[in-house]
Amino acid sequence: MRSYKAAMVEPVRLLAREDREAALREAGFNVFNLDSADVFVDLLTDSGTGTMSTAQWAALMEGDEAYAGSDSFRELRDAVRDVMGFEHLVPAHQGRGAENVLYGALVDDGDVVLNNAHFDTTRAHVAANGGEPVDCPVPEARDGDSDHPFKGNFDVDAAREVVDDVGAENVPAVVLTVTNNSMAGQPVSVANTREVAAFADQIDATFVVDACRFAENAHFVGRREDEFADCSVAAVAREQLSYADACVMSGKKDGLVNVGGFVGLRERGDLYEQCRQRGILYEGFSTYGGMSGRDMAAFAVGLREAVDPPYVAERVAQVEALADALADRGVPVYRPAGGHAVYVNANDALPHIPRGDYPGQAFVCELYREGGVRAVELGRFAFPGTDRDDLVRLAVPRRTYGPDHLEHVADTAAAVCERGEAVSGFEVVSEPAMPELRHFSAELRPVDAAETPSR
Ligand code: F0G
Repeated sequence: MRSYKAAMVEPVRLLAREDREAALREAGFNVFNLDSADVFVDLLTDSGTGTMSTAQWAALMEGDEAYAGSDSFRELRDAVRDVMGFEHLVPAHQGRGAENVLYGALVDDGDVVLNNAHFDTTRAHVAANGGEPVDCPVPEARDGDSDHPFKGNFDVDAAREVVDDVGAENVPAVVLTVTNNSMAGQPVSVANTREVAAFADQIDATFVVDACRFAENAHFVGRREDEFADCSVAAVAREQLSYADACVMSGKKDGLVNVGGFVGLRERGDLYEQCRQRGILYEGFSTYGGMSGRDMAAFAVGLREAVDPPYVAERVAQVEALADALADRGVPVYRPAGGHAVYVNANDALPHIPRGDYPGQAFVCELYREGGVRAVELGRFAFPGTDRDDLVRLAVPRRTYGPDHLEHVADTAAAVCERGEAVSGFEVVSEPAMPELRHFSAELRPVDAAETPSR
């Protein structure tokens, strides 16, 4: 049962099937190009798409829009100290702005950055600064049937091998992404966080936590890691983040706001000063960084709500209920469900589509055609050149949809699976220069399944 009621509503409509077909063609079979008015249930992302509380709307009215020394910045700084434990903060317009600030300061040509798995913008920022992003997920991460409780963990042994190869002096940063968005939204344990912190310390690298979904991660720790069975989400979050030298935060996730972000730092040393100057250059003065005062005011309240019971328990339960509804209808889902999203394995759902013909993107397009549902491919279309499974992410916006919407999503996904061989694969017809950002703007066309030679 949800512990809130709706105070404002936004209409949604399901277009007629032929209009959905036309919209999809018009979008070049890339759902990023669809108009949101043409989408019935939008599970493209959980980023900036959630519903704010009445307390957040009230705070927004009192935003202090001063260029320098804004009260709203102070409220945000205090919330970050209280909830996440970072004393110093460099504000940014969103997570990737914060990534630009931090990785631009940390990474030089030829460096290697280690991460349990880089999110696409993180990968792109490391690469844009001349670095090589290397993923070190635990082997269980790739197994959608394993019931390992922390499949988001970082494989320290694998990372050590990389360091032996490239030399510790070329590894300026070790990053832990909690939860691990690129690996099915799986959580990271505190035990693993401690190990990674010790490893980063040994090789003299900055230990960064990508904390976008820190509250969801803390919820899983409380449920799955014995040491924390009696701890609150707030206490686990503080403990887990206490090991990091720095964090990158997108307020659009566990900040419960539509926009905003920051770099959090423990010390006021050289790295803070470098980030502060880069922040002024790229984001805005150090007391707003691309956010309006009202954005920061709502963000400050959102951070506190994110660790306030029963919010996160209900949120994760809703995502788990979607995974169950899909599994009950025979849709192959990655288990356990992630904190913010359910991931469907398109290789299992549409086995007749050759891997080179983007079965994940085929599933995404068919979900829209069939029921006006928008999801995102996080497989070989989004991450070209990798050998990962073709996963389709159904990301659930926070405090937004009801059980009837998610039933519709499960029915739609089941109908896609039933269509089976009638669903064809795709080929890319145009793509941007930066492969890390391909899925945002590439265009595709269907490959006639009957004419496709098997590969
Ligand atoms: N890090 C992670 C783990 C993310 O999931 C995201 C964004 C970012 C950094 C960048 O933050 O969007 O505020 O610039 N993820 C969104 C998603 C876009 O759909 O998963 P941002």
